[in-house]
Amino acid sequence: MWISFAGIITNYKDVKQFLVQKGHKFRSDTDTEIIAKLIKHIHGLHPNYSFRELVEQVIQQLEGAFALCFKSMHFPGEVVATRRGSPLLVGIKTKTKLATDHIPILYSKDSPEKVELKDTQSDHRPHGHEIPAHGLARSQSTSEFLPQGDNKEVEYFFASDASAIIEHTDRVIYLLDDDVASVEKEGVLKIHRLKRTLEDTHAREITTLKMEIQQIMKGNFSSFMQKEIFEQPESVVTTMRGRINFDSETVVLGGIKDYIGEIRRCRRLLLIACGTSYNSAIATRQLLEELTELPVMVDLASDFLDRNTPIFRDDVCFFISQSGETADTLMALRYCKQRGALIVGITNTVGSSICRESHCGVHINAGPEIGVASTKAYTSQIISLVMFALMVSEDRISAQPRRSEIIQGLRNLPDQIKEVLELDSKIQEISKKVFEKKSLLVLGRGYNYATCLEGALKIKEITYMHSEGILAGELKHGPLALVDKGMPIIMICTRDNVFVKCMNALQQVTAREGRPILICHKNDQEPQKYGSSVLEVPKTVDCLQGILTVIPLQLVSYHVAVLKGCNVDCPRNLAKSVTVE
Ligand code: AGP
Repeated sequence: MWISFAGIITNYKDVKQFLVQKGHKFRSDTDTEIIAKLIKHIHGLHPNYSFRELVEQVIQQLEGAFALCFKSMHFPGEVVATRRGSPLLVGIKTKTKLATDHIPILYSKDSPEKVELKDTQSDHRPHGHEIPAHGLARSQSTSEFLPQGDNKEVEYFFASDASAIIEHTDRVIYLLDDDVASVEKEGVLKIHRLKRTLEDTHAREITTLKMEIQQIMKGNFSSFMQKEIFEQPESVVTTMRGRINFDSETVVLGGIKDYIGEIRRCRRLLLIACGTSYNSAIATRQLLEELTELPVMVDLASDFLDRNTPIFRDDVCFFISQSGETADTLMALRYCKQRGALIVGITNTVGSSICRESHCGVHINAGPEIGVASTKAYTSQIISLVMFALMVSEDRISAQPRRSEIIQGLRNLPDQIKEVLELDSKIQEISKKVFEKKSLLVLGRGYNYATCLEGALKIKEITYMHSEGILAGELKHGPLALVDKGMPIIMICTRDNVFVKCMNALQQVTAREGRPILICHKNDQEPQKYGSSVLEVPKTVDCLQGILTVIPLQLVSYHVAVLKGCNVDCPRNLAKSVTVE
């Protein structure tokens, strides 16, 4: 048995205990092994079941979130794949056109019956004849799916993410929870479901990916993360393309324009996300409060769920996620949806679960992000939320000067990002001074606070060095005790409404012999005299400044990771999509 498994089986101990009682021996303590042993056990009880029926029986016994792909020597030439709570797609490659863009869903004729793991030897087959959901005869519906013409050759690819298969094919089917996709000997793909529900659609659509192969190649870069950092002058443009008219100073987000009235009338905005996506919510909260004049709550999805947070029908809940598959964010989305709130998805992955389950949303269009450490998605998430704030406030006369300065700030951003990226070799030199240290503090406040959190997250994530993003206003309340001449500190001090307070914090640090690396505006002498090294960034509007101050920190984390010999794209213990709670 060959199983490819992503996710977590929460009842694996119970299943294992049952199988041990039945005499199965285990070689590991993994949940993957219980799946293999379970299918073997059911096959032993019901040797006449098809491969697909066995898998259907297995998943009925499993709890948790998973994507599974099975092959077996007992069923040569067949593959069965299924998902629940974890993403899974099927890529289809043919020499000729397919006869249809849809594959019909097949259901069991009789209501499905779960095999009780009680050890009955009956060989009652749980399923009758398959019937397609739309009522076509089985042969008619499945043969429609084959390629047209004489060449019926077809290849299938199973993956969690489109970027894994784009080099082979651009045609994919996104499976839904509890779909069971099987490729049988004759090469025909069928999708089954155990139960028919009211919300079921009758078929799964074949989607053509818009991704280019170059987008998933590293090119001349040493890692995807480095490539993605350097893509930011272009990725911010694709995020804004077709949405902002810089001359008429108008912003239209097609995915939410029909909901703007409802959003303006809402009780409050909630921004819910994890990790970097959460930091993008912190980065834009102040502007959202200012331009929408609504209360804005920002929550980590896991904490939001732990608190059973009260949600009302007139709340508008934003779920921000690069992958669109993060389990905690998705669970929080379902929690809010059940309570009648309007659900807005902000994702980078078209067709992802968050995207499908939202009422409306914005695709950030940053292009595929492959490095586990999120970089270009962060800057594009900020821009998407800024565009949202601009769109909601377009009818406010008093907000026009502010909207105008932000829109012109967005226009100049790509060139300013290029300028920041020119600091790369200077940052590499600075990184040499800190890469052997144990810890690195990142200090700032106001709009730069999110940069501190995000910079520290990047550093922890890929360099394994302790790092903490600290709100400079909190310095006196504890963190100042950490400061001495040996503590590496990066401090962000740009000219905005908290500049004076930042200078104050800077002086407190230097008074304790701290010699911070400073990120400040170009040619701003005042803070520079306190820095051990200085990284000068161009000045932009306060609410966009975080985009320019985070890039030096992305580069610091990248260079420190390289100097320490860490795997930049695949840091230990982490995954790109966190599809388990
Ligand atoms: C970012 O560098 C991290 N890999 C991680 O914090 C990530 O942002 C988080 O898991 C959320 O992912 P999402 O945006 O795909 O929901």
